[in-house]
Amino acid sequence: MSLTINGLGKTFTGAGGAGGVAVLARLDCLIAPGSFVTFIGPSGCGKTTLLRVIAGLEPASAGQVLLDGRPPAPGRVGLVFQNYALFPWRTARANIEMGLEIAGVAPAERRRRALEYVKAFGLAGFEDRYPHELSGGMQQRVAIARTLITEPALVLMDEPFASLDSQTRNSLQEFLLGLWETRRDTVLFVTHNVDEAVFLSDEIFILSRRPARLVQRLAVELPRPRDRTGPECNALRRRILDLLKDQQEEA
Ligand SMILES: Nc1ncnc2c1ncn2[C@@H]1O[C@H](COP(=O)(O)OP(=O)(O)OP(=O)(O)O)[C@@H](O)[C@H]1O
Ligand SMILES: [Mg+2]
Repeated sequence: MSLTINGLGKTFTGAGGAGGVAVLARLDCLIAPGSFVTFIGPSGCGKTTLLRVIAGLEPASAGQVLLDGRPPAPGRVGLVFQNYALFPWRTARANIEMGLEIAGVAPAERRRRALEYVKAFGLAGFEDRYPHELSGGMQQRVAIARTLITEPALVLMDEPFASLDSQTRNSLQEFLLGLWETRRDTVLFVTHNVDEAVFLSDEIFILSRRPARLVQRLAVELPRPRDRTGPECNALRRRILDLLKDQQEEA
């Protein structure tokens, strides 16, 4: 699905309409179907707000979000959070089944599909474990499976690997790319991490500090799998770090 963001603005108004906080200035972009796009920007610039507005969890103050030219239908946008947001009282399998349950899929069919995801996500043998019995990497795989099993038209990921150690993070990045290369979901990924952005993305959108506007759009035309420490990735990282330098976190 193509994603069009037209003049998207968001201002949070304080109690009684006083003290508004402008978070999204006026964002315009067009994202091609099946592409992997990353938004990177300073802490607090409005990245999570942007994803929440796109997902329809938060109303826009201006502009619009269109999927293939239409406002997204409920349930068509999937969101993966940084902190996994799993239900602690549900097993891995029952968490993965969640979206299908909401969609009214029959129990036997739900179970069959969830077990396919369990296998494909390297969770076999752990399907009956509760989230606290799983490693951080496994919990995040459960969270990603729970989102992808519903076949969303657009996948939003908000710093999904930020709580993981760097080795687990690297292996989950590779895992995610492997999934994406076969499924070709349209993915909108948010990160602080320049290395992650360069390793994963077809395109990188650099955001300003709050209120977020687009500073630069960079196409990453390097073949995959990418060598994280190779000269091309290093040069691109340096360029992004320079662009971000002017957009430091507010004191
Ligand atoms: N519900 C809300 N009501 C009022 N202000 C909010 C609300 N949600 C977010 N904000 C404000 O919007 C700004 C942007 O927050 P947001 O969480 O989108 O930033 P972010 O770029 O995701 O930050 P981080 O990098 O730390 O995750 C912050 O100043 C925050 O205080
Ligand atoms: Mg955030």
